[in-house]
Amino acid sequence: EYIRLLHNLVGLEAELAERLNLKKVIIIPGDSEADSAVRRELGRAAAGVLSQHLGDNMVVAVSGGSTMAKVAEAINFSVPSTAIVPARGGLGEVVEYQANTIAAVMAGRLGGRYRLLHIPDGVSEETLEAILAGDANLRAVADVIKQANILVHGIGEAVEMAQRRGMPPATIAAIERRGAVGEALGQYCALPGEIVYVTSSIGLRLDDLAGIGTVIAVAGGSAKAKAILAVAGTGGQDVLVTDEAAAKAIQLLI
Ligand code: F6P
Repeated sequence: EYIRLLHNLVGLEAELAERLNLKKVIIIPGDSEADSAVRRELGRAAAGVLSQHLGDNMVVAVSGGSTMAKVAEAINFSVPSTAIVPARGGLGEVVEYQANTIAAVMAGRLGGRYRLLHIPDGVSEETLEAILAGDANLRAVADVIKQANILVHGIGEAVEMAQRRGMPPATIAAIERRGAVGEALGQYCALPGEIVYVTSSIGLRLDDLAGIGTVIAVAGGSAKAKAILAVAGTGGQDVLVTDEAAAKAIQLLI
């Protein structure tokens, strides 16, 4: 608390919460893009927020990404009645950063259970429907995901995420043309908060989030400022855990 006052971040937390229409913003001093110790702190802060909201027998949905991997690593408490599920499947990340992996690691650290979504990447909505129709287990996991009490997810830059996922150049160009700057849950968002491209997948979408008890977004680094603004602008977010670099860059944009 002392160090945060020292960095004068408490006022900025309140300002961003108000302007971004969030219940709470937590700002970690420093720049997680440049400093791995700050990345670790970001993960630790998000794990702390999760522990505050986690009651018995809750379902927690998680996204993938390197930031979420840090959140999973930082969990040092156990709530064995928790069920962890991936928020959305098949978004084309490397194994370490897949939501399934993060869910399994988190469940291991919490002493809880996990359910995974085994669906292929990059298939059409029709194919997904057909897979779902033929797989009762997958349907059951999809139902559990929709009932999540808490969602913890990352936010990324739109074009960077499209490239990281190996999307075809024509799709990347279309995403860019539509003004997308941010991405979360496979959905690409333009400012001030419009969903302009959706990756077909199973699980939560940004427009489902009003029905989820607590939604916690974790993202840092000044490069993600617009991405955070665009995703927050779609609504449904409750808590943002970010760093000083991103927070100050956001402040310049609002
Ligand atoms: O792919 C999962 C995901 O959570 C995306 O929705 C998000 O844009 C990205 O990871 C963030 O990744 P990172 O934390 O590595 O920047």
